[in-house]
Amino acid sequence: MTLKLAVMGAGLIGREHANLIQANSRVELAAIADVSEVGKAFAAEHGVRCFSDIVDMLDAIKPDGAIIALPNALHADAALACISRGIPSLVEKPVADTLEAAMRLTEAVQRFGVPVLVGHQRRHSPDIAKARQLVRDGALGRLVAVNALWMTDKPNDYFNAAWRSKAGGGPLLINLIHDIDCLRFICGDIESVMAFSSNAVRAFEVEDTASVSVRFASGALGTLLMSDTAVSPYNWDTAAGQALYFPHQPENAYVFAGTKASLSLPLMDLWKHETDEGHWQHPLLRQHVTLDGSRAYENQLNHFADVVEGKAEPIVSAGDGMMTLATILAIAKAGQERRVVTIEEMLQ
Ligand SMILES: NC(=O)c1ccc[n+]([C@@H]2O[C@H](COP(=O)([O-])OP(=O)(O)OC[C@H]3O[C@@H](n4cnc5c(N)ncnc54)[C@H](O)[C@@H]3O)[C@@H](O)[C@H]2O)c1
Repeated sequence: MTLKLAVMGAGLIGREHANLIQANSRVELAAIADVSEVGKAFAAEHGVRCFSDIVDMLDAIKPDGAIIALPNALHADAALACISRGIPSLVEKPVADTLEAAMRLTEAVQRFGVPVLVGHQRRHSPDIAKARQLVRDGALGRLVAVNALWMTDKPNDYFNAAWRSKAGGGPLLINLIHDIDCLRFICGDIESVMAFSSNAVRAFEVEDTASVSVRFASGALGTLLMSDTAVSPYNWDTAAGQALYFPHQPENAYVFAGTKASLSLPLMDLWKHETDEGHWQHPLLRQHVTLDGSRAYENQLNHFADVVEGKAEPIVSAGDGMMTLATILAIAKAGQERRVVTIEEMLQ
């Protein structure tokens, strides 16, 4: 039986979700909810009804599942509307725009048992999954240091959608949150953070650039650099070739360094000595780690179909999405207050 999926928000990513649904034989596009003329025209092109109210759509269509691709501030209420109707949802990241909203949602998932999958699609990408396996299996030895880069140049008209340049938007919450989620998925929870942030180029109320230092609960240390106004191939989106609407420019965006080996990705180079006695005066062997070639967004949609059918628990639960959100909000706070912020403090 094909699953009827409804899409809320036919903007940049909602349209991609709709296209992915139409290309997947397990699911069908049941309806779209969007308030804009562009959204209505998109629904008409795809031969489905368009509702201007998400609740009206849920009640009229009674979909098997819903994909929530609305602006960040609307995520939690939309997911709660799904939960109260027993409808599993795939809610785009961030799970909510505030921790309070994320907590309300997490509690509702626990109370009513209706699953919510958070759209950190990189976890469904084979390079990220492989890195997690290698780190967790000890292929790098004890993990000591991690580096992640997310730097690219967004066009000015991207900010015509006003929510993107105001509190609750911004590249920490829109973009670096993916890298933080990957690092948590691969290396485990982050315990505390420090950061500098700057809005010197775009002069929006949100940052355009940030440098971040993190300590994982395991004791490993990490650094991240982020800018949405720098010309650079050093970001996972273009480097991995997994994104839907970016060119593929093979490069590395992450380095994981351990006491036995280092791993860079998405190019998937594993660097280690030939023998256990090797050290910095010995040449390193570079081994390419092969992947299965599967696609992150397609894997995510298939996983969501499994969740709707009750065959799988969400790989990224609402609670997990909340921990990633707490970490990115800690980074924002650390940048504003110029001090170390713990994740525990954020959750209190
Ligand atoms: N996982 C990813 O790869 C990825 C990529 C891009 C965006 N996102 C996330 O997806 C979400 C949407 O981002 P976007 O860039 O597509 O935004 P967007 O502004 O392009 O699209 C949002 C859409 O929601 C519609 N909308 C707004 N209020 C509405 C309401 N009350 N009812 C119905 N429709 C409404 C707007 O008309 C618009 O079409 C954000 O949370 C963003 O962080 C995720």
